[in-house]
Amino acid sequence: MNLELRSPIDERATIHVPENIAELDTPFNGSVCSQEGDEYKVRNNIIDILGKEPAFSSIAQSTNHFKLTASIYEDIWRKRSLSLLSGEDFPIEKEHELLIEWAAPKEGGLYLDLGCSTALYGRALKAAQKKAEIVALDFSSQMLEEARLKAEADETDMFLVRADGKEIPFFSKTFDGIVMGGTLNELSEELKVLYEARRVIKQDGVFFVMHLIKSDAWYGRLLQESISLGGIKFWTKDESKKLFNQAGFKVADQLVRGIVCFTKLVPN
Ligand SMILES: C[S@@+](CC[C@H](N)C(=O)[O-])C[C@H]1O[C@@H](n2cnc3c(N)ncnc32)[C@H](O)[C@@H]1O
Repeated sequence: MNLELRSPIDERATIHVPENIAELDTPFNGSVCSQEGDEYKVRNNIIDILGKEPAFSSIAQSTNHFKLTASIYEDIWRKRSLSLLSGEDFPIEKEHELLIEWAAPKEGGLYLDLGCSTALYGRALKAAQKKAEIVALDFSSQMLEEARLKAEADETDMFLVRADGKEIPFFSKTFDGIVMGGTLNELSEELKVLYEARRVIKQDGVFFVMHLIKSDAWYGRLLQESISLGGIKFWTKDESKKLFNQAGFKVADQLVRGIVCFTKLVPN
């Protein structure tokens, strides 16, 4: 499938992306451009819409741009984190089961892994539905490089896009589903990103979000308050719901384990 991106400088202009850029076993280097002539580099299959380095507003955000964080993130932290944060045995397979049940990727559907890091969710969607197309988006080149390596090792084809979630370079109502694991807590302007998710999702699409909520325990709150200094935000379950509603989504299903909250959102 050829992918159509929206030019960040002219919202009526289309950037046509040939399908072979998603074939990660064949390195693609070159550029893509819109009919208005604005051009974007493609390095190792990663389509760089951003070009420049983003301005970091927190320590949490800047660490995602270190090569070391990117290379150890998934195996050392991500796959074990939910057992630690939920207070129960929560293997990655259980998270994937819920992801696939709620996101229900369909044949020919187009899915966005928003703030993908190593594209754990994107790869899981593709493994469950080989005939779905995946776009993995992050503003960290290092994370996208790691996503590329992992996807190639899994023989998973996907489009890798370097862009800011606050300005998603796609036209309205493009995606059949959006998945976002752990990213909400790290966003500097979460509402802007949620508004963008609402704009690019189809009316019958599903938005799967995993995020961390405020702890009920005083010691948990104390820890979260100190973590907040580094730029990580936490909301209660009700505050999270308000945030989702404000962006034009409603909660269709939710599962809370410890401070881990999984939400199935649908457009209002
Ligand atoms: C906690 S990690 C996400 C983990 C991943 N989704 C998973 O389930 O393993 C957060 C990611 O969001 C990215 N990110 C944060 N703010 C962003 C923004 N405004 N636009 C794009 N990516 C962003 C970071 O670079 C980082 O890779």
